[in-house]
Amino acid sequence: MEGPIRLERVVAPKTFAIRTFGCQMNEHDSERLAGLMVADGLIPVASGEEPDVVIFNTCTIRENADLKLYSALGQLKAQKENHPEMQIAVGGCMAQKDRGEILERAGWVDVVFGTHNLNSAPALLRRARSEGPLVEILDAPDPEASRDMAPALYAVRELEFAAWMTIQTGCDNTCAYCIVPAVRGAEISRPLADLVREAEMLAKAGVSEITVLGQNVNSYGRDITKRGPLFAELLRELGAISGIERIRFTSPHPKDLRPETIEAMAEIDAVCPQLHLPLQSGSNRVLRAMRRGYSAERYMERLAAARDAISDLAVTTDIIVGFPGESDVEFNESLEVIASAEFDSAYTFIFSPRSGTRAAEMVEDFVDDDVVKERFERLKQVLDRSALAKHRQRVGQREEVLVEGPSRRNDQMLSGRTRQGKLVHFASPTEPLRAGSLAMVDITYAAPYHLLGELSSVVRPPRHKLRIPLLSS
Ligand code: SAH
Ligand code: SF4
Ligand code: F3S
Repeated sequence: MEGPIRLERVVAPKTFAIRTFGCQMNEHDSERLAGLMVADGLIPVASGEEPDVVIFNTCTIRENADLKLYSALGQLKAQKENHPEMQIAVGGCMAQKDRGEILERAGWVDVVFGTHNLNSAPALLRRARSEGPLVEILDAPDPEASRDMAPALYAVRELEFAAWMTIQTGCDNTCAYCIVPAVRGAEISRPLADLVREAEMLAKAGVSEITVLGQNVNSYGRDITKRGPLFAELLRELGAISGIERIRFTSPHPKDLRPETIEAMAEIDAVCPQLHLPLQSGSNRVLRAMRRGYSAERYMERLAAARDAISDLAVTTDIIVGFPGESDVEFNESLEVIASAEFDSAYTFIFSPRSGTRAAEMVEDFVDDDVVKERFERLKQVLDRSALAKHRQRVGQREEVLVEGPSRRNDQMLSGRTRQGKLVHFASPTEPLRAGSLAMVDITYAAPYHLLGELSSVVRPPRHKLRIPLLSS
């Protein structure tokens, strides 16, 4: 005889949420981490619900990045008191820098992991349930683990048709203001064959745009072979993969931008006409103090070479205002160089001293806040002017746009990016285009940060298969 039917309680899987600070490399690390969490049996939390596990993937490039993390942790403290099963993990660059200090300042954190052991986060979270708070920071990556590409293939991507691909980790440069080498370690390149295989798999999954990531992509491969330059070769290999229609990369270092890279950009159809070339300053004395390894003239020469070779090239940059010792005269020199470079857009930063870096010790030369703020405003005006001028040149043109979905500002419109990487909002046709579609759009209006347009024709529908969403949001 069979016994009574046993009713087993179905245990709902635990949910997780990841909050990411910082750069695209960190965003992509979070996508990989999300993939690892899913492989470990957790599911992404539905929007509006409280997750069982919260992971902060942190940044420490400027001081306000640190402040943001501690304020976010503070907000979670009360939530955790009401929900003691909740786990909080802190990983990424700030965790790598502050290590155990995070637990001293926020004792309700369960796990701290660094930039070199992202793959261990799920196991650390499991162990912490029985062992209590754990801090695990490695001083350098385990060479085998850092070559392991499995996490990249499981990555939970925000856009199904566009993917990031990290080709190298760390940085071998010594820019005086920068904490990245201290928290990300020395440059390690992933093998070319692995990258090509990863890109082929992404293409098979329907990805049509790949953004290649590294702190200094030009020096990709320098640590694995004397035969160079490998970056141009990588671009060629990626460009030959069927289905990959757009390739972007960030960031190349101006001192290492080689003619081979420019040639590859000019010759390979899939490589987008977009170059992010961080100038930092246009004053030669400041550039030397920053240890950037190029002069303003050298930068402008390379920029001119790139513009000559690559038609319709969009150029963006990074600028730091108020590096220690930057005088009014030097700032004005910098502004002149910036104006003459005619950037399409720029990320602008106020210098922030990071302890352990050379520039943080130049306390006597720190520039007053008021002076920095005034310079920052003047810089913004120059950059907005050139951004608008560049955008106005596009009005009347027909541009290829990869559709990202309904516009955030107006859901009657669609948004997408041109090959140059510019954001376009355009009127939706009677039948709305799905994200991942490729369309031709006539540009009708220019603002400094976006363009407006009208659909001209649809080039192709999305390449990726429609998936039933994991969770309704
Ligand atoms: N590897 C990239 C830069 C990564 S950090 C490169 O060299 O191009 C991104 C940007 O942050 C830098 O280009 C720089 O403009 C800015 N930045 C880095 N450290 C900073 C600091 N201490 N204060 C202000 N801005 C900083
Ligand atoms: Fe930092 Fe310079 Fe390396 Fe960029 S190249 S990550 S700015 S040290
Ligand atoms: Fe990126 Fe911030 Fe780290 S900019 S490399 S997440 S310090």
